[in-house]
Amino acid sequence: MIIHMPLILLFSLFVQSPWLVFSVNPPFACDPSDPATQQYAFCKPTLSIKQRTHDLMSRLTLDEKIAQLGDIAPPITRLGVPGYQWWSESLHGVSSGGRGIHFDGPIKAATSFPQVILTAATFNPLLWYQIGQVIGKEARALYNAGQAEGLTFWSPNINIFRDPRWGRGQETPGEDPLTTSIYAASYVKGLQGSPYQGGYTPQVLQASACCKHFTAYDLENWEGIVRDSFNAEVSAQDLEDTFQPPFKSCIEEGHASGIMCSYNQVNGVPNCANYTLLTQTARGRWKFNGYITSDCDAVADIYEAQNYTKTPEDAVAYTIKAGMDLNCGNYVQNYARNAIQQGKLTEADLDRALQNLFSVRMWLGLFDGNPNRYPPYGSIRSDQVCSQDHQNLALQAALDGIVLLKNTESVLPLLKSQVSSLAVIGPNANNFTVLLGNYAGPPCKITTPLMGLQSYAKDTRYLAGCQDVACNSSSIDQAVQLASSVDYVVMFMGLDQSQETEALDRIDLVLPGMQRDLITSVAKAAKKPVILVLICGGPVDIDFVKSNPKIGAVLWAGYPGQAGGTAIAQILFGEHNPGGKLPTTWYPQEFTRFPMSIMRMRAGPSNFIKDHRYPGRTYRFYKGYSVFQFGYGLSYSNYSHEIVTQSDNQLLTKTTINLHTMNIDKNLDHYHIEEIGSEACKSSIFPVVVRVKNHGPMDGRHTVLMFMRWPKELNGRPTKQLIGFNSVYLKAGEVGNVKFIVSPCKHLSRATEDGKWVIDKGSHFLMVEEDELEINVSS
Ligand SMILES: *[C@@H]1O[C@H](CO)[C@@H](O)[C@H](O)[C@H]1NC(C)=O
Ligand SMILES: *[C@@H]1O[C@H](CO)[C@@H](O)[C@H](O)[C@H]1NC(C)=O
Ligand SMILES: *[C@@H]1O[C@H](CO)[C@@H](O)[C@H](O)[C@H]1NC(C)=O
Ligand SMILES: *[C@@H]1O[C@H](CO)[C@@H](O)[C@H](O)[C@H]1NC(C)=O
Ligand SMILES: *[C@@H]1O[C@H](CO)[C@@H](O)[C@H](O)[C@H]1NC(C)=O
Repeated sequence: MIIHMPLILLFSLFVQSPWLVFSVNPPFACDPSDPATQQYAFCKPTLSIKQRTHDLMSRLTLDEKIAQLGDIAPPITRLGVPGYQWWSESLHGVSSGGRGIHFDGPIKAATSFPQVILTAATFNPLLWYQIGQVIGKEARALYNAGQAEGLTFWSPNINIFRDPRWGRGQETPGEDPLTTSIYAASYVKGLQGSPYQGGYTPQVLQASACCKHFTAYDLENWEGIVRDSFNAEVSAQDLEDTFQPPFKSCIEEGHASGIMCSYNQVNGVPNCANYTLLTQTARGRWKFNGYITSDCDAVADIYEAQNYTKTPEDAVAYTIKAGMDLNCGNYVQNYARNAIQQGKLTEADLDRALQNLFSVRMWLGLFDGNPNRYPPYGSIRSDQVCSQDHQNLALQAALDGIVLLKNTESVLPLLKSQVSSLAVIGPNANNFTVLLGNYAGPPCKITTPLMGLQSYAKDTRYLAGCQDVACNSSSIDQAVQLASSVDYVVMFMGLDQSQETEALDRIDLVLPGMQRDLITSVAKAAKKPVILVLICGGPVDIDFVKSNPKIGAVLWAGYPGQAGGTAIAQILFGEHNPGGKLPTTWYPQEFTRFPMSIMRMRAGPSNFIKDHRYPGRTYRFYKGYSVFQFGYGLSYSNYSHEIVTQSDNQLLTKTTINLHTMNIDKNLDHYHIEEIGSEACKSSIFPVVVRVKNHGPMDGRHTVLMFMRWPKELNGRPTKQLIGFNSVYLKAGEVGNVKFIVSPCKHLSRATEDGKWVIDKGSHFLMVEEDELEINVSS
């Protein structure tokens, strides 16, 4: 007894005293208890960031400067500046990828949200913002607890999911530029600590976001064509209305403090060496303020993989002069001194880069003393990581993202009372890892689909059916036997990171190996139509399920994260009404006859590809058959939509807007947006109201997607273009209004073949499901 007393006392002290909890200090500069640092101007928070960075740089030797230009920035001990790890990841939760974050202290896990492609399917910007917020908060908690050596996160990935084979499409918000743009700004604001509404950046960043990969990067390794040396040939029109909008939004709306230039070249110039791209476009036109990092080893690639320069020194000089500030890797650290000696680079070039780098570290509050002692983020403690609120948000994202693709005869939802025995079959039914997708961290806790279903059906029998997702061999006989012996069958099939991931694109769009045989055999043998749940990021060609009456229901669950198993079970048993919508087109296998390396978005001229008319890409341009279309998604309820007048809810089919602008030649059939001017643009903004009815039988959240189309598709006009989305929660039988704000200059405009934005005079059509509103633009 006597021996144990002090131990108990010590334990309670440890729990109650913040000083003991924080006995491990995070790295920081300008320790107030160190008198030396107090004389440095760079340590004085009252001075401007510019004055502070200049002061710091003036104290550095050339070698010290060069050493700071790699992602592993060493300490500058004589000035009390600690080392810094620039590379951390937080795609869908604080990740153990990169070098900055360590889960080896008291914090062992972080909230693991669904992979981004599923979160995108919620079409809910507030949720995207809240996820960013939680990630930023958990990142701060890790920093405060001494488990981080950096707060710069190389997320979000906002490249357009251009080709269904892309191994990293799962990391993105899908194929639509508007959705991706709104995702980018929402996530960045949340992560960095900005308010949801309004554009300002906080005085101290909660964490720093980085929009990647700039630009037109969406190929890993497809039939030997690799990202390190790929030259993406991109038209001015595609660049302007497809590849660039998410980056513009990330910078202008989200105020991201980082950008990453990608491995590939665009039109023969490596992105990290493109002055037009990095300096003129990002910093000049979009007013980017922050640091630009290369993707990892992208500078080395310019010489070694692309043979673009004659020497390594040239690769270093070209990138720094183009506007890149940081090299993930050590190529700049190794060759910058030589490049300066050879006259290819000046110390002033390095100073520009350092100014951006140290500014970001100062914005993060890492030069103001110990950040875990000061507001606004010092109070974020480790108990906020994996809090119930955070975990609930991960569940909400999975619930609202999951897409119901088929539900004939209303097989779903299952009734608990009717399911006395349930077979759970498939390689993705009980595998923790596969649910997390790539760039994951250790989850707080995780529920597999099998575990989720076991809490609803007592007699649950499980069979993997294939050795793994590749499914080269399958225990079909066993599966058939099991299926015929139970009331209901749920199958968990799809892909995993062995099929689609970074550095690996797919060759096929069909399910791997013997998965299809297994599904059809099981369906044939089952007493009732089976339920198929697809776990995958990119789309798969499952056309065969549409016409098979023995496959009664299909769900797409992406890679649903830590709460995925719970979410799937809740949806299958009707505790949640699914409302997710596909953020990508699901193409048939035949699409793979078109090379992934053709960047062209628009359907091609007839001789573009031998023997086949190039069909174009994504719902905006694709002319071929789709297995499922962008925006598709069923619910347990039916909804109807009508565009109505705001004043009295009367049906509205036609309206006119006047641009009221003096500046333009009224004889033209289109007007340049720049010439219309921002005043006229602003005054032409108008509201559109969509009346939605939930015809039942269940309450649910319903997302309305508003598209716009032109009377004709000439000169590269998209078939249609998403211009807004908004959700409403409606009880069964309830009617509600969803409001959209249409800004003609933004939403009715189009990019011309030379990459200029114009608006056509005359008809445009807003489209909401079955309803259309004609808008006549006049001047
Ligand atoms: C890169 O630079 C070249 C030449 O300056 C330019 O033509 C090209 O459009 C640039 N690429 C991008 C993506 O801006
Ligand atoms: C790089 O280019 C030079 C000539 O410009 C050529 O001699 C050399 O073989 C090339 N190297 C590679 C790896 O392609
Ligand atoms: C579980 O999934 C991971 C990641 O996809 C994979 O590497 C592993 O082989 C799977 N385990 C089983 C038993 O299938
Ligand atoms: C499965 O089959 C594929 C395609 O034939 C092959 O590439 C792969 O190595 C096989 N995997 C196993 C585990 O046998
Ligand atoms: C929804 O509408 C479709 C087509 O009108 C109909 O076939 C289906 O039964 C309806 N479903 C529900 C749940 O009301």
